[in-house]
Amino acid sequence: MNTLLAPFTLSDNLSLTNRIVMAPMTRSMATDALVPTQEMAEYYARRAETGLIITEATIVAPLAQGYPNTPGLFSEEQVAGWKVVTDRVHERGGKIFAQIWHCGRVSHPVYLGGELPVAPSAVALSGRVPRTDGIQYGTPRAMTESDITAVIDAFALAAANARRAGFDGVEIHGANGYLVDQFLHWETNQRTDAWGGSPENMSRFVLDVINAVKNEIEHVGIRLTPVGYLHMAENPKDKAVFDYLLQQLNTCGLSYVHTGSEDDRVFNYIEGSMTQYIRRLYKSTVIASGSYTPERAVTMMENGDADLVAIGRPLIANPDYVGKIQAGLPLTPYHNAMLNQLV
Ligand code: FNR
Repeated sequence: MNTLLAPFTLSDNLSLTNRIVMAPMTRSMATDALVPTQEMAEYYARRAETGLIITEATIVAPLAQGYPNTPGLFSEEQVAGWKVVTDRVHERGGKIFAQIWHCGRVSHPVYLGGELPVAPSAVALSGRVPRTDGIQYGTPRAMTESDITAVIDAFALAAANARRAGFDGVEIHGANGYLVDQFLHWETNQRTDAWGGSPENMSRFVLDVINAVKNEIEHVGIRLTPVGYLHMAENPKDKAVFDYLLQQLNTCGLSYVHTGSEDDRVFNYIEGSMTQYIRRLYKSTVIASGSYTPERAVTMMENGDADLVAIGRPLIANPDYVGKIQAGLPLTPYHNAMLNQLV
């Protein structure tokens, strides 16, 4: 386990005490004003032994919401709530990034004060909105040029707010079929203007978001799921978009690229797992994630597939995950019922 417990330099002025990262996990426990609570501060502080905590996805603007009680980073009250969280994590020697998020079409007017969700194109999402009485997703409104500028500005403001709230950095949520990812896939991006129609144009939104966010906070990572296909249909043409984007990311000064979930699967057309594919094209720090046991994480790192591993559900079940690994103690198995409270 020494491989996992070895320190890691994320950049000249950001060192991690070990290579275990807490994966971002939505808990829907913020207040109705989407403010993080003291209980959330204690929940994150209990996990401060991980090399880096990435918070649950945190919305950048009111129209970014898609689930109940997910925290935000756009109001002063939210900044103050997050400051309590970051202070508690830092007191315990931890490092913490905020995952900043816009749901795009994976939302419903029930979360948006009656407004339609926005997305690159007006392409319907089918399926039931979770945690509702059978409400169905619908067709979003295609973003205008000024909507796009406003959302890029909202990401920049959330990053500036994250800095003021004491975060060590931010992770742009570019994965799992949410707004950033919607620009990167052909099913959801059918635009014919400068934001769609080619890998270059489809990558423009995320590259502009990165640029705007980098202007506000020094350490910026991104989470991507090139072939995750959560909330969207598969299309083999998508690979060319990610081939282009990942190469562009080499010159963006990012702290890391983080694979979304599903790393236990090998995909033929990217010739390996998502992490292996990202590693081939992106030449700096890579975080793997998805169903990793400590043993599999060691093998994956020793094979050179990634530098760090993000652990999700096992860290919900084991707040003392790092201590247990250090001491060689067995891990408590995760159960979905554990999501009902913040332990
Ligand atoms: C997640 N996941 C997730 N991913 C993300 O990028 N932002 C998020 O807010 C969430 N929310 C979330 C909530 C819950 C309850 C779970 C279980 C998962 C995905 C998560 O970060 C991770 O990639 C997966 O859980 C796979 O890793 P594990 O759990 O197999 O280690």
